[in-house]
Amino acid sequence: MVLTSLLLSSVTLALGASAAPAASSEGPCDIYASGNTPCVAAHSTTRALYSSYGGALYQVIRSSDNATLNVPVLSTGGIANSGAQDSFCSGTSCYIKEIFDQSGKGNNLVRATIGNFKGPGPNGEDILADATKAPIYLNGKKVYGVYSTPGTGYRADNTNGVATGNDPEGLYAVFDGTRYNNGCCFDYGNAETSAHDTGDGHMEAVYFGTNTNWGSGAGNGPWIMADLENGLFSGYNPKQNTNDPTVTSRFITGYVKGNSSNQWALRGGDSTQSTVSTYYSGARPDGYYPMHKEGALILGIGGDNSVGAEGTFYEGVVTTGYPSDDTESAVQANIAAAKYSA
Ligand SMILES: *[C@@H]1O[C@H](CO)[C@@H](O)[C@H](O)[C@H]1NC(C)=O
Ligand SMILES: *[C@@H]1O[C@H](CO)[C@@H](O)[C@H](O)[C@H]1NC(C)=O
Repeated sequence: MVLTSLLLSSVTLALGASAAPAASSEGPCDIYASGNTPCVAAHSTTRALYSSYGGALYQVIRSSDNATLNVPVLSTGGIANSGAQDSFCSGTSCYIKEIFDQSGKGNNLVRATIGNFKGPGPNGEDILADATKAPIYLNGKKVYGVYSTPGTGYRADNTNGVATGNDPEGLYAVFDGTRYNNGCCFDYGNAETSAHDTGDGHMEAVYFGTNTNWGSGAGNGPWIMADLENGLFSGYNPKQNTNDPTVTSRFITGYVKGNSSNQWALRGGDSTQSTVSTYYSGARPDGYYPMHKEGALILGIGGDNSVGAEGTFYEGVVTTGYPSDDTESAVQANIAAAKYSA
């Protein structure tokens, strides 16, 4: 087995080296658009999430002189130009200052500031992720993820087009399935515009980790759950849903979606495989319908700037409308085809 996969990956590497990077015919956000649930935010430090995206993916700042670099894609619709980051960051340390929104809505993620909770930075700001700590490969080529330690957080409070109130929404995020803790809360998604806890149902975000203060899944975790504010949920029962499995894969895609009736779903799958499993689909927990989404966006923290969690993020999107399971399956196949590997 080991020998076969080594052989296969050297063949892939050899082929990849001789050819120009293959332009992906579609990205996850092209798939969501075809399903009439377009992305309103698309964030990734690893690759373009639209076949037509040719802009910068994220910005790094280096310690030696505080200069910044916008890290571009290698080609339109392609992966990050990690070589550009490597040259720029050579001999100094580099941090991810901003993650650009590829959707055209301008929902860029920047350093989060103080909320109910303080970050460890000046004036209670959060800190930035080290840009070099999460190298991985897409189709054999090195790219970097967002390596979040406790205190690291990104946010966009004034957004454009993101679901508010009880409006329907879908989300996914690809995480490192082996980096997590039980702190609150390693989230990606919709949160409060004030960075303060404004009550039940004011968030709708994908969570990853082993926190058991609220809900949990089967086994010891880590689990994909939903942060709906004032709780991490894995189903209808606020305490436990044993259909929500302990994650064992190196890369995990978590899906959360909710419609404007009393329906939400929690799904997930190994990001190197095309299968998405449904962990829960049905009514919201008591007290969570209607929803009170506020439409801010967060990464690596809770909506109230809880900064206890750690994890690694590679890519994620927020849609408007409730994506179908078929759309999510096509998205998962697209992620698998990107060939995440460690
Ligand atoms: C970079 O900016 C920070 C924050 O403003 C400052 O403390 C630091 O001295 C600057 N470093 C350099 C090398 O200019
Ligand atoms: C929400 O989803 C449920 C379950 O699929 C469906 O019955 C309901 O019609 C949907 N509501 C809307 C407004 O789409």
